[in-house]
Amino acid sequence: MSDNELKEALNYLHSKGHTELRKILAIRLRQSGQEVSASNIIVTGGAQQAIQLLFYGLLSAEDRVVIEEPTHCHVVCLAKMMRLKVIPLRRTKEGFSIDELESLLKRVQVRLIYTMSCSHNPTGTNMPERKKEALVNFCETHGITIVDDTVFSELQYIGFSPRTLRCFDSRGCVVEIGSLSKTFAPGLRIGWIICLRPLVEKLVVLIDAQTMCVPGITQLFAARLLSSGDYDTHVDSLIQLYKTRRSIMEKACNQLLPTFVKYGLPDGGYFFWLEFPKTNTLTRNLNCKRPF
Ligand SMILES: Cc1ncc(COP(=O)(O)O)c(C=O)c1O
Repeated sequence: MSDNELKEALNYLHSKGHTELRKILAIRLRQSGQEVSASNIIVTGGAQQAIQLLFYGLLSAEDRVVIEEPTHCHVVCLAKMMRLKVIPLRRTKEGFSIDELESLLKRVQVRLIYTMSCSHNPTGTNMPERKKEALVNFCETHGITIVDDTVFSELQYIGFSPRTLRCFDSRGCVVEIGSLSKTFAPGLRIGWIICLRPLVEKLVVLIDAQTMCVPGITQLFAARLLSSGDYDTHVDSLIQLYKTRRSIMEKACNQLLPTFVKYGLPDGGYFFWLEFPKTNTLTRNLNCKRPF
């Protein structure tokens, strides 16, 4: 890092984020199949700040927001803090049901859907591509914004990185958020929002009022990390490690858990989701060996 680069990084940066980081993020996102330039990207203090900015920027108290169940718990807390009305839709392996969403819209207006199209936290599932396409088309038609949280997307055990919802979006109804927290280091507090430019301009005003900018030094570090190739090597090694752990976990579950506990192999992420029946069967049978 040169003296000038250091000097710049130690100053207030533009609240959109460090240009070098936004450029390298745009290059990487284009490689994953999205139409995006640096002007569509805002750097945030992690994905959590990204979600908060979007909720503040797009919603008002009493607005209805659809959130999958189960989901990242801090999103539900945030929505409640902001007095939003949370409508849960059940997440299955395929994502949530568009038919259920459609019948919901006959009764109430929904402004925003928060989802994870790939490596869903905590079920580890990827929505199939046809579902992604159908969901984006549906939301475009009904004027609903989708926030696609991709923090775990790069951690995939299926042999390739599936496309995120924004790759299917031609009209800007999908806003994508991501971060380096799950693939590199949560302490860096580097996240981002990808959206159309009018929304970028609106969110920048909120950032100015909140934090002014994400620290320049960490942004510059992140930019150099992403350009160096070291990040990709690191993510590849994480995928191998977690894939091995996934197999060990599956073996242990097959051997040790009673048959009433349901689970599937996660496609991605770092959770292994178990489902227990809503009865007291578990406590009754806790000391027994499989099968019951
Ligand atoms: C799905 C999901 N989104 C967002 C976050 C927040 O991530 P960050 O550390 O980038 O703010 C988390 C953290 O656990 C998460 O699991």
